[in-house]
Amino acid sequence: MTVLITGGAGYIGSHCCVAFLEAGHDIVVLDNLSNANSLSLERVAKITGRKVSFEFADIRDQPKIESVLKHYKCTAVVHFAGLKAVGESTQMPLAYYDNNVVGTHRLLSAMANCDVRQMIFSSSATVYGEPKFLPLTENHPTGAVNPYGRTKLMIEEMLRDVSASDPAWRFGILRYFNPVGAHESGLIGENPLGIPNNLMPFITQVADGRRERLSVFGNDYDTRDGTGVRDYIHVTDLVEGHLRAHEVLASGSASSNCLTVNLGTGTGYSVLEMVRAFERASNKEIRYVFAPRREGDVAECFADTSLAEKTLAWRAERGLEAMCRDTWNWVCKNPSGYSSEET
Ligand code: NAD
Ligand code: UD1
Repeated sequence: MTVLITGGAGYIGSHCCVAFLEAGHDIVVLDNLSNANSLSLERVAKITGRKVSFEFADIRDQPKIESVLKHYKCTAVVHFAGLKAVGESTQMPLAYYDNNVVGTHRLLSAMANCDVRQMIFSSSATVYGEPKFLPLTENHPTGAVNPYGRTKLMIEEMLRDVSASDPAWRFGILRYFNPVGAHESGLIGENPLGIPNNLMPFITQVADGRRERLSVFGNDYDTRDGTGVRDYIHVTDLVEGHLRAHEVLASGSASSNCLTVNLGTGTGYSVLEMVRAFERASNKEIRYVFAPRREGDVAECFADTSLAEKTLAWRAERGLEAMCRDTWNWVCKNPSGYSSEET
């Protein structure tokens, strides 16, 4: 009874490894390390006191996936592996379709050949596009606005089609809002390469002096202070949602063989509220300037969490203070991330 965790060396995947190991599950991580450092798995072992089996491989390598599924006698997959940078996806769409869509197709084909029929998939609130109403419920119309988002939507459709073809399949499509934070030990966390695209990693790099100031993208949105509002969720809460989804699917008690569920807190914070919260947590000034809106950004985005509460008996417990405190703890303990070199 082993769970294959693809992309398990990455940011969310490494936290998921901790959650599954601490819950007593056996896991094997498969990752091509294209955006990760295997040191994260040594840290996972340190946190949990358990050895982590690791396979250096690509999800597009179907024969290899089949041999891993058989060798470890896997019964389920948690699928994080994928490329995730929106801007990059507009520059290199084929790489995104290949890695994310073709990769997931090969992974599913390998699972079918090995009779492994349960998968939890990392989707994103980006599939909702421009919100027509808030909070976002799972039946809100979908419509991605960039290649990255379209790969997520295509994969969702593929999973729905496969689930409809045979009731033996069990899927949990989890739509993440904005994952932030780090494990409370400060041993694992987000380790972005280059200039961060997302707000929280950028703020941390201003706090620790690596960047001079934050550019706040837009202060003329129709929000309480004019800056963009998002539903930030602590990564530890997020991965506990995966554990619940895994358990509900494995128990056979799910209401459907393809669950599509939001993972968010239901509360939105503005960019300036995030800046102030991080200042309190770090005791550092976060310098910022207002800049033009970023193309493709929406004013406000937050989740309706009632389906997650009902179907998974899960809700996020950690607030903004914990998100900022744990991020800062990770950054202070690992100023160069997992790398020994300065960025
Ligand atoms: P990450 O880049 O830290 O983790 C992804 C992992 O997958 C990395 O370890 C990378 O090396 C690995 N990988 C990529 N392509 C692979 C391939 N072809 N074969 C094997 N391994 C491969 O990203 P993350 O933030 O941990 O995100 C995990 C998943 O969650 C992604 O699918 C992402 O799209 C999704 N997601 C993330 C966010 C977010 O804000 N972080 C939001 C919504 C959805
Ligand atoms: C981004 C992605 C989205 C993905 C989500 C979670 C884009 C266009 N969208 O969305 O597909 O699902 O992350 O990973 O990249 N901000 C600043 N200055 C910065 C960075 C961000 O003001 O330097 C603002 C943004 O305008 C936004 C908020 O901070 O209002 C959050 O931004 P970000 O962390 O990039 O997340 P999303 O915009 O939700």
